[in-house]
Amino acid sequence: MEKIQSVKGTRDFYPEEMAVRNWLFDGWQAASLRNGFVEYDSPIFEYLQLYTAKSGDEIAGQLFSLTDRGGRELAIRPETTPSLARMVNQRINSLPRPVKWFSISRLCRAERPQKGRLREFFQWNTDIISDSAYEYADADCIYTAVDYLRSVGLIKDDIIVKISSRAMLAELLKSQGFVDEQLGTVYSLLDKQPKIPPDKFTAMAEEQIPDADLRERLMRLQSVGSIGELIEFAPESVQKSIYPLETLFHILGKMGISDYCGFDINIVRGLAYYTGMVFEIFDRRSQLRAVCGGGRYDNLLAGLGGPSVPAVGFGMGDVVLEILLREKNLLDSAKNHLDFFIVYDDYKIFEDKGLSLVNSLREKGFSTAFDYRRTSAMARQLKMASSQAARFAVILGQETIDSDEITLKNMADGSQKRIAIKDFLKETDKYEFQRRPL
Ligand code: HAM
Repeated sequence: MEKIQSVKGTRDFYPEEMAVRNWLFDGWQAASLRNGFVEYDSPIFEYLQLYTAKSGDEIAGQLFSLTDRGGRELAIRPETTPSLARMVNQRINSLPRPVKWFSISRLCRAERPQKGRLREFFQWNTDIISDSAYEYADADCIYTAVDYLRSVGLIKDDIIVKISSRAMLAELLKSQGFVDEQLGTVYSLLDKQPKIPPDKFTAMAEEQIPDADLRERLMRLQSVGSIGELIEFAPESVQKSIYPLETLFHILGKMGISDYCGFDINIVRGLAYYTGMVFEIFDRRSQLRAVCGGGRYDNLLAGLGGPSVPAVGFGMGDVVLEILLREKNLLDSAKNHLDFFIVYDDYKIFEDKGLSLVNSLREKGFSTAFDYRRTSAMARQLKMASSQAARFAVILGQETIDSDEITLKNMADGSQKRIAIKDFLKETDKYEFQRRPL
C-alpha cells in the first residue's frame, strides 16, 4: 500500500512545530490572564444551524458539515463566537458581568489552502460581554491583542490595528444614497476588495451595485483616510455615529497604544454579525492577510435566542501570526530545550551518581536526559546534548571519579567548572529557566 498523506490544508505537528505552537499558546494564555480574561472551551462540533443562523454566507460556505447517525445536521466549528454566544445565553442570569472569556481553539474551514490560509488552524479568542461603557470594552479587547503582539517583540513599525465602525459606515452609506437592503452587499464587497485582483473587484462591484453614480460615491467615501477627514466629509446626520470612534481612539491613547492604531474606513469584516466597532490587525509591510480580526456584535446573543446583550471580541489565528513572527526573526525562543544532559565516562560511576542526579534534577523540575547506551564516548554524548539543545552538560568523567564533584559545562559558551554535587544542586535553586511548577 502507498503511504497515506495528510489531508491538504492540515498540518502535522512534529516536536519542532509543536514547540512553536506551545510557545504561541503560552503567550496567548499569559496575555489573556494579564488582561483579566478567564478560559472556557466549547465542543469541536455543534448543530449546523448555529453557524448558518447569523454568521453570514461566507462562513456558511466554508463549513465542514456532517449528518450523524440520528440524522442530525452538525458542523465542525469554523469559529468560536457562536458557541460563546450559545454558552453565555444558557447561563445569562448567573454569570457575573462583565463576562471576560478567552479560548484557544482548533477550527476548520473548507477554504482553498494558500499562504496564511489553511483548512485546519488555531485561533485565540477573547470576548467581553458587558452592558455598559462600550468603548472601554472595545479598547480593552484591542489593548489585549496589542499587548500580546508587543510581548512577542512586534513593535509599532511592524503592525497596525485598523479600526472602523459598521454603525458609522451604515449611516455614511445611507447619507450617500444607499438603502438598508444594500448594506450587506457593500460590506461583503469592501471586505473582499483587498483579497481579490482589482479587475475582479470592479466586475463584482458593477454586478452588485449597477448604479454607476452610487459606485462613484462609494469610491469617494473609501478615500476618507482619518477621523479628521471623516468629520469633514460626513454630513450632519452621520456626526453622532463618529463620536464612539473618537472616544475609542481617545481611550486607546490613554492606554498608551495609539502608535499601533489607525482609522481605516475600508475595514468592515467578513462575518455578518458585527454591529459597531470593527478592527483588523495587519503586518505594516507585507502582503499577508489579517493576523487578527474582531469587533462589536451586539445582536448575536439575541439572534441566537438569548436576551439582547452587547458583546465585543476578536480572533487571532496562529497561521498568519507564525509567518509574521518568522519573517521578523522572533521565533528564536520557540524551541524545545533540555535543561541538563548527564554525560558519563564509565557507567559504573553513572549508575550511582548519575542516576541519583537525574532524579534530583527532575524532582526540582528541570528537564534532564542521558544516553541509554552504556558505552558511548563522551564526545558522542556531548553531541547528543547539543542536538537536544541542552543548556548544561553535567559531566561525570574520570577526573571526578574519587570525588563528590561534577564538571558543569555551559553548552552555549563552552565554559566549564568543577563543582561539588551538593553545591551544584543548591546553585540550581537560582536557575529560573524551564522550571515547571512542582
Ligand atoms: P475571522 O476574521 O474569521 O474572525 O478570523 C480571525 C482570524 O483567524 C483571521 O484574522 C486569521 O488570522 C485567522 N483565520 C481565519 N480563517 C483562517 C484560515 N482558514 N486559516 C488560517 N487562519 C485563519 C472570526 O473568526 C471571529 N469569530 C472573531 C471574533 C471573535 N469576533 C468576535 N469575537
